[in-house]
Amino acid sequence: MLACSPDNYRLSQESRVTERIPFNKPAIVGRELEYIERAISLGNISSDGEFTRRCETLLAERGNIHRVLMTPSGTAALEMASMLANVGPGDEVIMPSFTFVSTASAFARSGAVPVFVDVREDTLNLDETLIEAAITPKTRAIVPVHYAGVGCEMDAICELAERHRLLVIEDAAHGVDASYRGRELGSIGHLGIYSFHETKNIVCGEGGALCVNDARFAERAEIIRDKGTDRQQFLRGAVDKYTWVDHGSSYATAEILCAFLCAQLEDAERLTSHRRASVDQYRSLLAPIAATQRIELPTVPSSCRGNGHAFFLRLESRATRDALMDHLRSEGIGAVFHYIPLHSSPMGRKVARAHGELRVTDSAAGRLLRLPLFPGLEPQQIVRVVDEIGRFFGV
Ligand SMILES: Cc1ncc(COP(=O)(O)O)c(C=O)c1O
Repeated sequence: MLACSPDNYRLSQESRVTERIPFNKPAIVGRELEYIERAISLGNISSDGEFTRRCETLLAERGNIHRVLMTPSGTAALEMASMLANVGPGDEVIMPSFTFVSTASAFARSGAVPVFVDVREDTLNLDETLIEAAITPKTRAIVPVHYAGVGCEMDAICELAERHRLLVIEDAAHGVDASYRGRELGSIGHLGIYSFHETKNIVCGEGGALCVNDARFAERAEIIRDKGTDRQQFLRGAVDKYTWVDHGSSYATAEILCAFLCAQLEDAERLTSHRRASVDQYRSLLAPIAATQRIELPTVPSSCRGNGHAFFLRLESRATRDALMDHLRSEGIGAVFHYIPLHSSPMGRKVARAHGELRVTDSAAGRLLRLPLFPGLEPQQIVRVVDEIGRFFGV
């Protein structure tokens, strides 16, 4: 059942040749059911039980984070961050267009305007040198997205934010167990978010967390998560009944999901090191093809430690990308493209705006191809993926 050790995936040589290699396969580390049974036996399957606390503590200790709150998704955590930032109609929030819809929709739903800034050529993260020109008197926050678990240039972004009195909300949906200059992603801005969706490194099906790094937001974050009530203060004995005190919604996570997630968080190191090893293998096997300039491999700046969330190639054109994707799929290999830039989506065109030309965003999005990467991906499977890429290029 465990997906990490290559030994768990022994297949005959014959079946390996024709075996389908999926793009993703969520890891099961082994203690998930045991922990779910324990959650049930403890008699509390809603929220705020033993496993919620354990997950929050594990994440807070790992990142040295003031307060972590478990949420039903990364999207929910972004919505909480938007409420905490008090953004409203007409306010502007700077972010990349090369991201998942939730980065923008969490702010747009309150009437704020996502302002898209182009990304860096190397990491596809928000280009910190373009942010200042996009700041207006209406700007309230910057939302750096750590694409593929590689950190944005956070020193420059935080310095800019401080000078312009803006909040920094890190979208670290891909960023658990990755760091920038020795600091965990998600722990650097005023607020940060994680996702534990089944496509991420550490999963519970659907799940997320809000990282409150600036203590001023902690009490209100608890209230927003609990439908706008002071229930947490009641549970701590600070008030003798709880009532409706602010805006909020139902953003707590069920204990059963936290139990599943807790098993995974306890095994995070093993999950991450397997992914890092797969990325290293892809890099070294693909180096000869990269040397022919037919493909470009992803860059991880020396300031960052990646978590192996994703491995992607950039091809010379969209047509080559699509042809390689079709070739790999026809060989049973799950290769997929990624974000359709939000500034070109119907809703993005309606409620957001692009700051200047998003040249790198448009170019990269059309040429990017992600390769299979998940805990349990075997070295032999990586060899097969690379062989097929070589065969496609005749290298
Ligand atoms: C960059 C980014 N932000 C936010 C999210 C939303 O996370 P969730 O699916 O947990 O709501 C995702 C999900 O893929 C994402 O990729």
